[in-house]
Amino acid sequence: GKILVLHGPNLNLLGTREPQHYGRDTLASINQRLTEQASAAGFELEALQSNAEHLLIDRVHACMTDGTSFIIINPAAFTHTSVALRDAISGVKVPFIEVHLSNVHAREPFRQHSYFSDLAVGVICGLGAQGYELALAHAIRRLSAQA
Ligand code: DQA
Repeated sequence: GKILVLHGPNLNLLGTREPQHYGRDTLASINQRLTEQASAAGFELEALQSNAEHLLIDRVHACMTDGTSFIIINPAAFTHTSVALRDAISGVKVPFIEVHLSNVHAREPFRQHSYFSDLAVGVICGLGAQGYELALAHAIRRLSAQA
């Protein structure tokens, strides 16, 4: 099965955006590493970033028919606001890991509630870009065990 990586709003600015919170890696370099990590294990990986809630929702819906078997998602600010994206990912029943670059629990109170965490297989935050790699390692192990 295919692995989908979804990046929410403003993550296209990675590299220059508040590096004290989000590090210096660009989104392109993160996606490149993940693609290599997946293909080394024999998995296809697709990454999508969008600033538009409806595009993320539509991409999640497409998982019902496109053979996606696992999602890694950083919903970014939608983490704290989007019942609609939560309902989409809940509706398609594809297992997912929630990733945040920063430790959201060490920041403003409004970042400490997530609409996704109770549905997630697991949540990784505060480990920077490495969080995506650890999430992918788990997804690969899980999908390989199922095969
Ligand atoms: C984030 C944390 C969110 O609170 C914030 O809105 C983001 C990025 C992170 O990766 O640390 O845009 O999801």
